Amino acid sequence: MKMTDIISKKREGMELTTEEINFVVENYTRGSIPDYQVSALLMAICFQKMNMRETSDLTMAMVNSGDILDLSNIEGIKVDKHSTGGVGDTTTLVLTPMVAALGIPVAKMSGRGLGHTGGTIDKLESFEGFSVEISEEQFMSNVNNNKIAIMGQTADLAPADKKLYALRDVTATVENISLISSSIMSKKIAAGANAIVLDVKIGDGAFMKSFESAKELAEAMVSIGKNVNRNTVAVISDMDQPLGLAVGNALEIKEAIDTLNGAGPKDLLELCLTLGSNMVVLARKAETVEDARQMLLKVIEDKSALNKLKEFVASQGGNPEQVENTELLPKAKYVVEVKSEEEGYVSKIDSEHIGLIAMELGAGRATKEDTIDLAVGIVLNKKRGDKVSKGETLAYIHANDESKIKRAEKSIIESYHIAKEKSEDIPLIYGVIK
Ligand code: URA
Ligand code: CA
Repeated sequence: MKMTDIISKKREGMELTTEEINFVVENYTRGSIPDYQVSALLMAICFQKMNMRETSDLTMAMVNSGDILDLSNIEGIKVDKHSTGGVGDTTTLVLTPMVAALGIPVAKMSGRGLGHTGGTIDKLESFEGFSVEISEEQFMSNVNNNKIAIMGQTADLAPADKKLYALRDVTATVENISLISSSIMSKKIAAGANAIVLDVKIGDGAFMKSFESAKELAEAMVSIGKNVNRNTVAVISDMDQPLGLAVGNALEIKEAIDTLNGAGPKDLLELCLTLGSNMVVLARKAETVEDARQMLLKVIEDKSALNKLKEFVASQGGNPEQVENTELLPKAKYVVEVKSEEEGYVSKIDSEHIGLIAMELGAGRATKEDTIDLAVGIVLNKKRGDKVSKGETLAYIHANDESKIKRAEKSIIESYHIAKEKSEDIPLIYGVIK
């Protein structure tokens, strides 16, 4: 097989065979096809597109390029959840104990935050002593005994995707539905999922800026899932403002605990119930999402989800007293109110901007090597649709470095769009693709 033939075939808009796709992925991962040839092919794919068969083949070729986590010793259907990336997105921390409390195994590999979005692992490290560096045996045994464990990404999952993603990033070939959907799905499948619930975000702070593009991505991922025998459901949700109120590691942990105590922000709870009920149905623990939703509400009400979080934190070396008493979580030295300079209604809060401000306060990393400050971040006091008067508090800055406060204050004011009239409601959930 010749790489130039494959490139010209795609350039002319023809369908690539399974063998051709495997050839490219295997040899590129191994280093025997150079970057420039793969760049040319990626650009041809961007112009000519791939059909669903090619996209599914590309996904499985990337899955097979590295380790595949074997979760077969864990009983039950392993349902994973993935978000395309949001700001202040605390859903994993709320959802996983809720689902585990219903006896559904949560065997999750999570990442750290980079840029304006946070990572679940960083957030969890707000618990004193908590570690995601557990052995694979410990991981499996925790999931079998407690139904929940979260591990850092140790195995070499989908190395082809890692290499291709880095190349796409520098050749302007990220934005193609087949390439994005196969990239996301390959990592979930390699991590051992039997079924997958996706949270596809739309809006300013998200990868997909419009409903049409988010829907197209959601449909592509659901259809890959069907083609490769992993039942997949995609929820399309709003990211035109941060989710919940807290943005920052320990602040989001507190928000998750509040939610499990039945006292969290409404949007965060609603998204968790929507994603969670689909997970419960995929795990075959309920017939309908309506039944599943009632089951999830019950584990909040009877505190079994909160107890599950406590058990989970303790099982990975963390201090469960911090779940009981959130005052014991890391706290910032300064808490400063940001006041509105205008009066009206909040029409939009730039999510990406808020994420970047939190990062500059120390809550996130600009580069992989940066260390983060678990205590700092932003807590919103006003959300879209809320009325504000001049001098009223829009948000609170939690900071440890006094010199960063002024700038954060100015940036937060700029992130809030305030209109004279109340604008039409934007839905939190745009749709569910099955
Ligand atoms: N996230 C991924 O993991 N891959 C993409 O291609 C885009 C976003
Ligand atoms: Ca939040």
